[in-house]
Amino acid sequence: MNLFDVYNLWNVELKSAEGCYLYDSAGNKYLDLYGGHAVISVGHSHRLFIESVERQMRRIAFFSNSIINREQENYAKKLGELSGYSDYSLFMCNSGAEANENALKLASFKTKKSRVLAFCGAFHGRTSGAVAVTDIPQYRAPYNCSDNAVFVPLNNIEAVRDELKSGEYCAVIIEGIQGVGGIKVPDIDFLQKLSTLCKSENVMLILDEIQSGCGRSGKYFYHQYSGIRPDLITVAKGIGNGFPMAGVLISPEFEPVKGSLGTTFGGAYLACAAGSAVVDIMTNENLMENAAQTGDFICSELSRINLATGKIKELRGKGLMIGIEMNEPVAEIRRKLLFDCKIFTGVSSTNIIRLLPPLCLTRKDAATFIGAFEQILANDR
Ligand SMILES: Cc1ncc(COP(=O)(O)O)c(C=O)c1O
Repeated sequence: MNLFDVYNLWNVELKSAEGCYLYDSAGNKYLDLYGGHAVISVGHSHRLFIESVERQMRRIAFFSNSIINREQENYAKKLGELSGYSDYSLFMCNSGAEANENALKLASFKTKKSRVLAFCGAFHGRTSGAVAVTDIPQYRAPYNCSDNAVFVPLNNIEAVRDELKSGEYCAVIIEGIQGVGGIKVPDIDFLQKLSTLCKSENVMLILDEIQSGCGRSGKYFYHQYSGIRPDLITVAKGIGNGFPMAGVLISPEFEPVKGSLGTTFGGAYLACAAGSAVVDIMTNENLMENAAQTGDFICSELSRINLATGKIKELRGKGLMIGIEMNEPVAEIRRKLLFDCKIFTGVSSTNIIRLLPPLCLTRKDAATFIGAFEQILANDR
């Protein structure tokens, strides 16, 4: 059987990984500034992460959500404490798209309405409800198209106000920081007004922190810079450090109804072991602080490079979620970074380099990237 060929592939085959480094089958060592798409939070092959999953695997790997699972309760408690949402409840599932599906469903169950307001440039996943509120029409099959999803420009509170006036909306969904859309950061003031408006219109505010959460921005969630408390928060990617897991943090305003949500694999023992280890490592190693400081260092160095070269159109992001928008397509720079300098990076559209490294990235590793990037721009003159 062949693989269904839907991905654009680099010609790299990895054999192992440790911390912020990847090793390929030809013996090359790469610096990882991509983190498998913001998934690797506490670093590759962390000893405590491996031990936690391995220990659980030897005890019991899986049963079902039809019995008491203390590991889920312990994980929810730990995640609540680290994220500052101890008073919320946790529904565990398997992927970011699934987390958003469940959040949209909860909002619709609660308000008994069906329209959802999303933002231009949004990405919320590939499943039916999530892709309907994703602003990339080519990802939607005719089956996924819905009149229930409406898009307005990010940071435009008047456009939101005009739409919500209709009284037909169950939810507004917004990314903490838009990732696929090119590292677009919502204004703090906009988030505050959005929260107030949603409350006054009785519309549920869903914060998709799947890419921007888990400490990547320097706070556990990006929206915490604004002080707002959304009704629903979705998490995935970094919370499992490569173990597929996701969740919805649900405000105390929601009453759980038996049977209203469900999943076979969500909250499995192994996921809880992986997630608990991530929480412990993030706390022990102060990875949120590291994300804030190392991110600031990278951005100040990139600003310095831009003063000298003028080649960066705009620098955006927070902590270790950074978008470098260039004046030209970045494919050649990324190719050189990967094959000449052995540095993995991500991309958004054609002109934006996206940095999503493990949160344990050191200043020395960051300086290696800065040196390589500066050299490539200098040789390009
Ligand atoms: C903001 C955001 N939401 C949702 C998703 C979908 O997550 P998944 O691919 O785990 O379904 C992604 C994935 O890139 C994302 O960045």
